[in-house]
Amino acid sequence: MARVLVLGGAGYIGSHTSVELIGAGYEVVIVDNLSNSSLSGPEGVRKITGVDVPFVECDCADPQALGKVFERWKFDAAIHFAAYKSVPESVSEPLKYYRNNLDSLVTLLELARIQGVHGIVFSSSATVYGQPDILPATEQTPRLPALSSYGATKQIGEDILRDSTAAYPGLKGIALRYFNPIGAHPSALIGELPRGVPGNLVPFITQTAAGIRPELSIFGDDYPTPDGTALRDYIDIVDLARAHVAAVNRMLASKQKSDYEVFNIGTGRPVSVLELVNTFQRVNDVKVPFRIVARRPGDIAALWADASLAERELGWKVERSLDQSLSTSWAWQKSLAQQ
Ligand code: NAD
Ligand code: WQD
Repeated sequence: MARVLVLGGAGYIGSHTSVELIGAGYEVVIVDNLSNSSLSGPEGVRKITGVDVPFVECDCADPQALGKVFERWKFDAAIHFAAYKSVPESVSEPLKYYRNNLDSLVTLLELARIQGVHGIVFSSSATVYGQPDILPATEQTPRLPALSSYGATKQIGEDILRDSTAAYPGLKGIALRYFNPIGAHPSALIGELPRGVPGNLVPFITQTAAGIRPELSIFGDDYPTPDGTALRDYIDIVDLARAHVAAVNRMLASKQKSDYEVFNIGTGRPVSVLELVNTFQRVNDVKVPFRIVARRPGDIAALWADASLAERELGWKVERSLDQSLSTSWAWQKSLAQQ
């Protein structure tokens, strides 16, 4: 049985990916320093899968600590989720972001190279595209200068992986550019755990519906879009997790066409903020009070994916609807209130 190291696996995307990897027959080891998560992540993975998944509390940017993990197990592949992800915080604390997000990746690559790991999957982001002139964005759409240090760590991270796989024979890499991940596992045992006031739209909506926030601010209705609110591509978390399994399968089956590959992971369907809020209210039969306010600085008008390359090459496609994602988001929010 092939073994996969999941760095940052206690977090939102890492915990869901761990579940799907185990479901696909992989053995998983989770490492995380719990800087933005808790033990409820690995515990949820164990409950859902019935597998006693090993968890090691470890700073992945610390070569000694991560080295000990590699002494204990041999890995066929690794997935790097271990990064900080707040765009505004990265603008006020750039060095925190460059240190953590890049050091953890370089440390992993140094160890992977020595230990003979075959492939690394890197969590990149659609943020690397900025506001493209032509939509949907394909993998050939130019990356624009990053608007935040967070975005810069994704561009530099991709380049680090590209250069490392070119230089070190036997090491392969896949960068997945996620669009906007939403939703939770249907069991409601794992989901997103935002700390403080959520910056992202869906956690803000679920907290407003739950009465934790009085109302949602919709940032701008004067964008050049059909209803004036911004367009994004919201991808279900379980579908996103499955894309990682497909990427690992591809690497381990030696199906890659080059040492380093990039795939967009999105639905290909643009959804406006208003459509999302209205769909959430309809699907869950719950009210979300909202008010239109000024645009949020740094936001782009519209971004959605052309994910046809992932469909063709990874053999992956979206299986969950927006209705399903917004239903599991709400179920997860309600389960948090009961904890
Ligand atoms: P998350 O914060 O829930 O998960 C990241 C996990 O990494 C957390 O559990 C955190 O404790 C851990 N971590 C951070 N630094 C670490 C370190 N040095 N050592 C060990 N663990 C560390 O975030 P997420 O939404 O699951 O994101 C996972 C990855 O996907 C990140 O790289 C993020 O930048 C990327 N991404 C996320 C989104 C999104 O909207 N959620 C979109 C595009 C890309
Ligand atoms: C979506 C839409 C907001 C909150 C961010 C990062 C990006 C990526 C995903 C990691 C926008 C609007 C939001 C609210 C609102 N992360 N909105 N009221 O901005 O597309 O992307 O998260 O890589 O890097 O920038 O996602 O969920 O913040 O916003 O009206 O309270 O919802 O203006 O149009 P975004 P988001």
